[in-house]
Amino acid sequence: MPKVLIATEKPFAAAAVQKIKAEFDAAGYPQSWLESYADPKDLHAAVADAEALIIRSDKVDEAVFAAAPQLKIVVRAGAGYDNIDLAAATAHNVVAMNTPGQNSNAVAELALAMMIYMARGKFNGKSGSELAGKKLVLYGFGFVARYLAKMAIGVGMEVFAYDPYLSSEIMTKEGVTALHKVEDIFSTGDYISLHIPATAETKKSINWSLLSLVKDSCILVNTARKEVIDEDALLKAFADKPKFRYVSDVEPDCSAQLAELYPDRSYWTPKKMGAQTGEANVNAGVAAARQIIAFFEKGDKTYKVN
Ligand code: 3PG
Repeated sequence: MPKVLIATEKPFAAAAVQKIKAEFDAAGYPQSWLESYADPKDLHAAVADAEALIIRSDKVDEAVFAAAPQLKIVVRAGAGYDNIDLAAATAHNVVAMNTPGQNSNAVAELALAMMIYMARGKFNGKSGSELAGKKLVLYGFGFVARYLAKMAIGVGMEVFAYDPYLSSEIMTKEGVTALHKVEDIFSTGDYISLHIPATAETKKSINWSLLSLVKDSCILVNTARKEVIDEDALLKAFADKPKFRYVSDVEPDCSAQLAELYPDRSYWTPKKMGAQTGEANVNAGVAAARQIIAFFEKGDKTYKVN
């Protein structure tokens, strides 16, 4: 039976570990677990005899594939797969998959929580503001954005979205107004929430020509990837717009400057927390296990991304 390695620098919750084990045990697949490792060499050693690999945000690059001669499939238990070198996967005949939608509700809840945290001045005891009646613009309208739209409508926000890959009807059906130009995102939102992947096209794409358009009191929410932001432009937005705020589910590279110059107007989680719930870990981890089993048993490649 194929041997599976579950390598998670940021481990799954105990309940998820148990359920993933149960899936593989029932199928008779032997597993090994590498959790909380700090050195990529530990991953290289652990993957040597693995035919299948489950990861989260763990980096899977050429060096990992080169160290894994038996590997047939790698599944990213989560949505974003910018941590996998897809060209290297293909060159090594490895199928790469993600588990779309499985952890999205957790990320959407964190985005809403971070919006409230900033609106209430990081709970500093002074008067803040409410989300109700404000305009939220979602940049990208995938699973996370759709969950967030529902919640935001529930608290009385007016919700807009821009997604160049989707038709307006999909947004209208969810009670969201479609925007048609990327510039409109930045000029419309009291809150702007990013839901785009980090790709060659999107990296540093949130630049000054877009950030210069934001309202003075705009709150920019990033539960996507830090790489999509041009941080020079971000710092310029802080300097130019005295009420502009930024909240992020990952530490920006310019964190030292933000902490020194704009501590009240910025916040980031110490470690990516969006998908860190027991429920999301169970959903994404079990989906990854099932996808691996379906791949070996039936040749199912439904969620292949390379
Ligand atoms: C994702 O892309 O699924 C999220 O960013 C969650 O990443 P994580 O598994 O590292 O928490």
